[in-house]
Amino acid sequence: MNCTGSSLPETPETGQPLWLLAELTYRCPLQCPYCSNPLNYDQQKQELSTEQWIEVFRQARALGAAQLGFSGGEPLLRDDLEELIRAARELGYYTNLITSGMGLTFERMQAFKDAGLDHIQVSFQASDAELNDYLSGNKRSFREKLEVARTVKALGYPMVFNCVIHRQNIEQIDKIIELSIELESDYVELATSQYYGWALKNRDHLLPSEAQLKTAEATTNRYREQIKGKKRTQLIFVVPDYYEERPKGCMNGWGNLFLTITPDGTALPCHSARELPIEFPNVLNDSIESIWYRSTGFNLFRGYEWMKEPCRSCDEKEKDFGGCRCQAFLLTGDANNADPVCAKSPNHHLITDARNNAEQNNPANSEMIYRNRKNSQRLIATG
Ligand code: FES
Repeated sequence: MNCTGSSLPETPETGQPLWLLAELTYRCPLQCPYCSNPLNYDQQKQELSTEQWIEVFRQARALGAAQLGFSGGEPLLRDDLEELIRAARELGYYTNLITSGMGLTFERMQAFKDAGLDHIQVSFQASDAELNDYLSGNKRSFREKLEVARTVKALGYPMVFNCVIHRQNIEQIDKIIELSIELESDYVELATSQYYGWALKNRDHLLPSEAQLKTAEATTNRYREQIKGKKRTQLIFVVPDYYEERPKGCMNGWGNLFLTITPDGTALPCHSARELPIEFPNVLNDSIESIWYRSTGFNLFRGYEWMKEPCRSCDEKEKDFGGCRCQAFLLTGDANNADPVCAKSPNHHLITDARNNAEQNNPANSEMIYRNRKNSQRLIATG
């Protein structure tokens, strides 16, 4: 499948792009092996200019976008971040910075506050320096993150403490929760890894067993009870869809709510769609309005017409939309297939095989593949 051009009509069901994710850059000081950036990110060197980003914000806002996430890569590597935040706030967005915290100084955080930034999400990899720095591939990361998280709170920002949970850190979830409480986090996202991009390459190293997951969830529930009424911290634990029998309604439906703009201006219905063999539109060539309502890429999986069996006749299709298109493509080679997470999918064995492998703790390759330029180039060269 290789789709180009734009012609499909706007449908009455099409929602507004309420959530805009601005992936400002693919550059990043960390090398997390579960990164959802595309494997070939190193080929995408072009970044939109300040003016081009502000024009994106303006057009998306006119279409109804209300929430704007600054992401990456590491968005702090953009020197114009203050200017982008200010422009976004002037347009009326609720703004959220999604950051590793690396290199974030007190002065810059204050400047973001002056520009109107509403909210900061700081990612951690683990509860201690040794594992955190091993997973991030950066020897300074834990120390810097601690300092940044404390400053975020000192400046009065609401803070999300985000830690992707997987086989390498799931056994220390109690310590991770304790750290997040000690840092006075407002929200704690303990989201188990999703298997796209680099995480799919490293799945055998990352997918926990069912027993590990059940223990981690029970631990989270225990802490919820302990801190109820005493601490403001809210714990959110997200189970991986690999342990579900029905797929998630990914992105709340394709092209229904979420709009992602990548560093070079490519517009996507989700952060992983770049891995699909679809030619997505670029904001340098088309208006956001045209991209959202009329581009082929954004219309491909709207509605139910595109569905094959078992999705087409399924009475749950309005709830889960056939699951995740990216996962269907990455695991079965055809984005029109049912998400293999669904027990009704003829490809469901792809998920149960991975689960069985996780039970046996049997990584197929001996080393995790870190997200860095060298590995990106190697993966491109080897296909
Ligand atoms: Fe792309 Fe689910 S991540 S549709």
